[in-house]
Amino acid sequence: MANKQFDVIVVGGGPGGYIAAIRAAQLGFNTACVDEWKNAKGGPALGGTCTNIGCIPSKALLQSSEHYEQAGHTFADHGINVSGLSLDIGKMMARKDQVVKQNNDGITYLFKKNKITSFHGRASFVKTDETGYELKVVGSAGEEAISGKHIIVATGSNARALPGTPFDEENILSNDGALRVGAVPKKLGLIGSGVIGLEMGSVWRRLGAEVTVLEALPIFLGAVDEQIAKEAKKAFDKQGLKIELGVKVGEIKTGKKGVSVAWTNAKGEAQTLDVDKLIVSIGRVPNTIGLNVEAVGLKLDERGAIAVDDECKTNLPNVWAIGDVVRGPMLAHKAEEEGVAVAERIAGQHGHVNFNTVPWVIYTHPEIAWVGQTEQQLKAEGRAYKAGTFPFLANGRARALGDTTGMVKFLADATTDEILGVHMVGPQVSELISEAVVAMEFKASSEDIARICHAHPSLSEATKEAALAVEKRTLNF
Ligand code: NAI
Repeated sequence: MANKQFDVIVVGGGPGGYIAAIRAAQLGFNTACVDEWKNAKGGPALGGTCTNIGCIPSKALLQSSEHYEQAGHTFADHGINVSGLSLDIGKMMARKDQVVKQNNDGITYLFKKNKITSFHGRASFVKTDETGYELKVVGSAGEEAISGKHIIVATGSNARALPGTPFDEENILSNDGALRVGAVPKKLGLIGSGVIGLEMGSVWRRLGAEVTVLEALPIFLGAVDEQIAKEAKKAFDKQGLKIELGVKVGEIKTGKKGVSVAWTNAKGEAQTLDVDKLIVSIGRVPNTIGLNVEAVGLKLDERGAIAVDDECKTNLPNVWAIGDVVRGPMLAHKAEEEGVAVAERIAGQHGHVNFNTVPWVIYTHPEIAWVGQTEQQLKAEGRAYKAGTFPFLANGRARALGDTTGMVKFLADATTDEILGVHMVGPQVSELISEAVVAMEFKASSEDIARICHAHPSLSEATKEAALAVEKRTLNF
């Protein structure tokens, strides 16, 4: 092959792909990464969905909207009176865009630092021979053929649309449009009360929208520990986030006045929801668009994801796939771990990902975070377990913060005391969950955590106390 040759070509520059490229380069491979994302000026915008229209911009808006809510509602409790509070949504969005750009630029810098060749365009498989795989890149520099001995596919996922209701990003919004609304809608509807539904619902409610979430499942946050989900639901109800469970969404009409959603409630009664904007957040589908998998015989599974084994090996030799485009949770950090592990496997090392200790976080207020098994999973398995909970209401730091909603919950094996799951709802639990992940990774017992010195006053004391609660010996409750 006379094309530009690489040891490793990574297709996709999201958190899975760019991290895989960096690790491959660190291991001494001549590495390229192909990514087609364009910024507002048409230039490259490395970082994928997470950086451009996902994790990063949503966290920027969650922070801004939280400041706004606090200034309007909770500053007064601290003796700080604000008058003339107003919202400059344009500035808020510009700040969010700047945060995204800083992250894009950071990855460009990391590619240069690690001598990774970056191609801006869409890659597709052309053919394979004994030396590797040929890919075609179509993009800003025209069309180019490149060849790689190893290919890592990290093409991510796209928002799932409701059948017959495509996203127009004007009235019917995906996660993309939901982050670019130019004025606060008076009424906002969301279909699906999953992670995106709750995070985006929170942003726009805090900024003043009347938010209604329509969820098909009869239970709230089915994957979350039931006790934690109930506590979170109470908090969201109090905030005025209207969540309807067990609904069936019918016809959706868009017009000049906005969007009209016909739906049936849990009792089977016909309802209509009229909103200015509708966000559809009903999950995501693996993205293999334009990859031309047929050219080389790369196999997909029944969901349209690239079929891989536990080690991210596809059916083709030296072709690997990671992140949202394969099985498993669609989480940036899961993709990153897979990217590192694959690069290490290519180098003949023993890359490893422990799926049981992948943490989950929902960045609402209160935040929700967990790792390991839920109480309902342990019950279904028939596993004997002990549980311990500790409320933030009894934590000094939480009281000082004025943020006492929620709890930490430990689940440990009844005999060995090994931690099986840790579940949290409350302030800054996105950070607190790391301690639980480390503990589970080291196969710690709840007693191990209970015996560790935690700084006082800190929210992390709630973690220690919940571990103490497993043996019914909390000190502060
Ligand atoms: P999701 O899977 O979290 O939630 C989708 C929800 O929509 C479910 O509750 C489901 O029951 C409901 N649903 C499905 N079809 C429906 C219908 N026809 N009518 C009403 N409800 C329906 O998906 P989401 O929120 O779209 O997020 C997509 C992915 O992005 C997730 O896998 C998530 O892990 C990831 N993500 C992660 C974030 C984080 O880690 N903080 C933030 C945002 C997204």
